[in-house]
Parts: sequence; C-alpha cells; structure tokens
Amino acid sequence: MQQPLTARRSAAISGRVKVPGDKSISHRALILAGLAIGRTRIEGLLEADDVLATARAVQALGVPVSQDGSVFEVLGQGVGGLAAPTTALDFGNSGTASRLMLGVLAGYPMQVSLTGDASLCRRPMSRVLKPLAQMGLQVEDGEETLPLTVVGTEDLLPIVYELPVPSAQVKSAILLAGLHAPGRTTVIEPLPTRDHTERMLSFFGAEIDVETRADGSRAVSVSGDAELKGAHVVVPGDPSSAAFIVAAALICPDSELVVENVLLNPTRTGFFDTLREMGADLEILNEHDAAGEPVGDLQVRSSTLKGVRVPAERAPSMIDEYPILAVLAAFAQGETRMEGLAELKVKESDRLGATAAGLAACGVSVRIEGDDLIVTGTGAVRGGGTIETEMDHRIAMAFLTLGLGAEEPVTVDDVSMIATSFPVFVPLMTGLGAQLG
Ligand code: S3P
Repeated sequence: MQQPLTARRSAAISGRVKVPGDKSISHRALILAGLAIGRTRIEGLLEADDVLATARAVQALGVPVSQDGSVFEVLGQGVGGLAAPTTALDFGNSGTASRLMLGVLAGYPMQVSLTGDASLCRRPMSRVLKPLAQMGLQVEDGEETLPLTVVGTEDLLPIVYELPVPSAQVKSAILLAGLHAPGRTTVIEPLPTRDHTERMLSFFGAEIDVETRADGSRAVSVSGDAELKGAHVVVPGDPSSAAFIVAAALICPDSELVVENVLLNPTRTGFFDTLREMGADLEILNEHDAAGEPVGDLQVRSSTLKGVRVPAERAPSMIDEYPILAVLAAFAQGETRMEGLAELKVKESDRLGATAAGLAACGVSVRIEGDDLIVTGTGAVRGGGTIETEMDHRIAMAFLTLGLGAEEPVTVDDVSMIATSFPVFVPLMTGLGAQLG
C-alpha cells in the first residue's frame, strides 16, 4: 500500500539534531564483524530496513547478532567460518548489502540464493559477478539480476581488477572475496570511491595497501588468508541523510541549524563542497576522528544560492546527493550543470529520469543532455503536483524537501521506502519546523 505525504512551505528549519548512523559503514560493520574472530560491539548502527536486511543475512549465515539498547553485538565466526543458510537471503531494497555479500559468498563452496524487492531485482549485478567469476564464483541459476543462486569455492584466485565504473560496491565485493584468496587481490579505481571497506578492514586487522597514483587513480590491495579480530565500532551520522536537513535549512527563511556528529570522510563530502561553491552559509565545527573516520558538526543558515558547474570527477563523492542537489539548484539563481551522471540511472530508480521528471512537475526548468543534468533556477520554485518516487527513498526525501520551500504544496506518492535509509526522517524534520502531513 502506497503512503502519500504532502510537504508545505515552512518557516525556519532550526535546532540541533543528530542524524542516524551512516548506511555504508553500518553494512560493513555487520559484515566484517561476522567475518572476524570473537565479539564486535557496534554503537550507532543505522536501524533502517537496508541494514536490518544485512543483519538478517549475517545471522542466516550462522553468525549470532544481538541488540542491547542501542548497541549491537556480533559474535564473529572468522573468515571461512560462515554456514550455509537454509533459505534464500532477502536483501530487500539494498544494492550494497547484496553486492557486498556476493563478494563474501565467493569464498564458500555452498549454494546460496539471493533475492530482493522489485527495485533491487532490476539492478545490474553483472558488475560484481564478472570480477567474482574471474576469482571462482559460479552462477548456478539466474543471469545478471537477482534472484540468483551462486556457488563459491575455497580455492579463490586473487585478481588485479580495474573498475570499469566508479563503484565502491564493486570494489568492496572484490576486496571481501580477496580475504579468502591466497596472495594479494588488487582493485584499481580511476576515480576514488568511498573507502569505508578498506578503512574498516584495516581497523579489524586485515593487511591493506593503498597506492595513490599521480593521475589520481588508486590501487587498493588486500592480503588474503586474512585473520580479522572483533573490534569496537562507532558509526558516525550519515552525511547522505544530513544532506536533506541541510538543504531544507538553506531554502527555508531564517533557519539556523546544527547537525552533530556527521561523517566527513573526503570520499563522501562532494555535496557539502558544492554547497559552499553555491554560496551556502555552511561551516564545519568540532572536527575529530571516530573509529578511523573523520567526523564533525555541520552548522548551516538560510542562504541565497547561485548555480554552479559540478564536474564529473566529483560524482563518486556525492553520488547519492544529486536528487537533493538538483532540488537546491532549482532554488538557486542561474544554471547548475551536473556532469557525468550515468551511474544515477542504475540506482534504486533511474534517478536521473526521476529527478528531472519531478522537477518538471514542480515547474522547474530542467533538461538532460547525455549524462548531464541541467537545472536553471530563478530563486523561487512553484511546486504543486504529485511526485512519483518509483520505490526510491532519496527521490521521496528530495521532493518533500522541495515542498518545504516551494510556493504550492508538493505531494510525494509513496514515502514508505524512506524506511530503507532514514526511518525517522519525517518526525525529525517536523521537530525542526517542517510542515509535513
Ligand atoms: C555505496 C556505494 C554507492 C552508493 C550506495 C552505497 C556503498 O553505490 O550509491 O548508496 O555503501 O558502497 P555504487 O558503489 O554502486 O556507486
């Protein structure tokens, strides 16, 4: 059943908040904890549907996971210690969970079926299956999308693989498989993608080597037959969730907002860098390190924004933030050209198409040229109409945010998918002054 919701023009978005834990780090914490020897304690884990799917998959593979208040405890079985699940692993809406887990399963000679919801079953899996097949994973049933049945092997081959698309999920799947392979497995990435897997592998005791080359590309290697040790992980707040609140504060008048404890890993901060170029009044306070990741507080005030060019090289560091950036571009003065967005077409929806369609429905001047999205703002947005979210949580949150600053109310056809990444989005925003209902 679809759950529509309407956003209305709001006064100031003000206060001090914490956003829930980072989704990427939460998935990785559960997976690495399952592969480590002994107990791992995870504080601040994101309790959202995508991450809970990972927790269930880890449990189905024979790893005890328990929760005591806000702390999760995982009793790791060691690399090679997972057991065959009795039913198919269901990853719901989560591309990250399914792709990373394919990397883990490559090292086990057991038959495992993987499935997901309608959106996930449309997303390309060949990008991970191809390198994993080179290492030894076989597909027994299915082709390039879920549902799939796969069989791994104890005799994985280490590979050197250059990523054809900038994808942290593909890099991570290969590195996780590399834990089981003898020798070094290397992933070469022409553009840096989020590096949480390599940081956390190192934190759990794996041997990781990262070489940054003169042309900016990186070679990330993991040494196989690794032994990981249980650890204490503290998950910082998710910058991709913070992005919506920051955006709302920028476009609603008289806002003064602090978002505390946000992950500020440079492979994730492209959106905040772009906002500063657009003229946003955004400051980072209290920067420090937490369990191997940089974090800080974001202080933001309502701002007059101007259009900018966002180069393709920046895309991996803000890949999930384009729908909300496009919304802000609609409120800015002038043209914002977001270049090189081919990867947006294979997210939870075709985000390039869904973003452009939603903006057009709200009276915004928008066009797609090849893989570029061009939005021309006039400083004000008409709004109105109903937005089709196409099972995409970020489309839902981006257009609810647009409605907070637009002249006419904006209705989003279904907000149920927001539970995959940011279940407290609506109450948190309402508590800051957003008119949602
Ligand atoms: C993620 C990587 C990105 C991102 C996704 C989370 C991750 O996907 O869009 O939301 O945790 O590794 P790609 O690696 O496919 O670009």
